[in-house]
Amino acid sequence: MWTQADAGHAAPNESVTRNGTYHLVDPVLGEEELRGIIDLCERVGTYRMASAEMSSTEIGAGLPERFECFYDLARQRGHENDQPYDPTHEDWLDFDRAFTCQFRETYADLGFVEPEESKYPEADPLLYHEAFISGARELLDRPVVVPVAALANLYVAGQWLGPHTDITEYRGISRSTTPQWLLICMHHSRLFDEWRLRIATAVNFFNVCEGGEFRCYPDGATEASVAAPKRANTALLMDTDSFFHEVRPVYRPDGRPAPLVRGQVLQFGEDRMWRVINPDGAVVETYAWEEVRFSVSWKGYCFRDDAERKAWVEHSDDLSMEFILERLTDDLLERGLLRNRNPDNVTMARAIVDAYYHAPPVEYH
Ligand SMILES: [Fe+2]
Repeated sequence: MWTQADAGHAAPNESVTRNGTYHLVDPVLGEEELRGIIDLCERVGTYRMASAEMSSTEIGAGLPERFECFYDLARQRGHENDQPYDPTHEDWLDFDRAFTCQFRETYADLGFVEPEESKYPEADPLLYHEAFISGARELLDRPVVVPVAALANLYVAGQWLGPHTDITEYRGISRSTTPQWLLICMHHSRLFDEWRLRIATAVNFFNVCEGGEFRCYPDGATEASVAAPKRANTALLMDTDSFFHEVRPVYRPDGRPAPLVRGQVLQFGEDRMWRVINPDGAVVETYAWEEVRFSVSWKGYCFRDDAERKAWVEHSDDLSMEFILERLTDDLLERGLLRNRNPDNVTMARAIVDAYYHAPPVEYH
């Protein structure tokens, strides 16, 4: 079904194609606004890799932040009984490249800050895009939508992102205090729904490159994927915390993965070329714009009503780690995945991923 979008920040003749689980917005921006975003991408110029830190909390001690992705990958390869957190493991480099080496930067991250405090005004047409706000209301069935973030992602030739769901948020805990894999698995367990913040994400594609398709699994991890159309200035709006999605490899003539390792940055030069640079300053590879995939993720918090929004802001109904672990332990004991109430953190983490997190198969080059 095609409908005309509302007024406000919207491209001329913008259309929205609706599906039960996602909306396709095409085009997203007017010509001038689109140029503004590309200029901003170049002006920001330096993009760091997604966090590859190890978690420092008790339950996450010694485990990578995206343990669910690593363990799921090892399990898919029949390596689940190996040391699941060992950076010398043969699966580790694949995991790192597929899940933690994406180059990114924040164009806007408002939380509950007022609109006039935007970091980059060029990102405002995205941040306050009417089709995203009204679409989020409809898709997530939550009338109060607060746009909070615009996050840029860049992929170079040979780079991809494996199937995953995004990091969930809950009242009372956050990624600064809780390992990312635990937040994600908590959502897949459905045991903490009443504390979960609904987040809508619009993945915006802004340039044309070969490969790099965005695929999502709106009917579940074991069902067929849907590929977003490969057109610049389009967006897919959906609940990326709930539905698996991935980015297929950006075309690279030799068909090999990009030679990426932790700690590198991607930089735009005066010659209008992109460079992957090592921490010691050495240039690893150089890319033209056509060999780079540029997308921006819009995020909006979606609330049932102002009371729910207030509970979020005022922390009046927060989760505690003690409660989370108790509820998970009860469920894992019932499923026969734990033998006692006090497992070590690796046993607990493996049981949690085994119980709740099963991604679509990871495809490599
Ligand atoms: Fe994602």
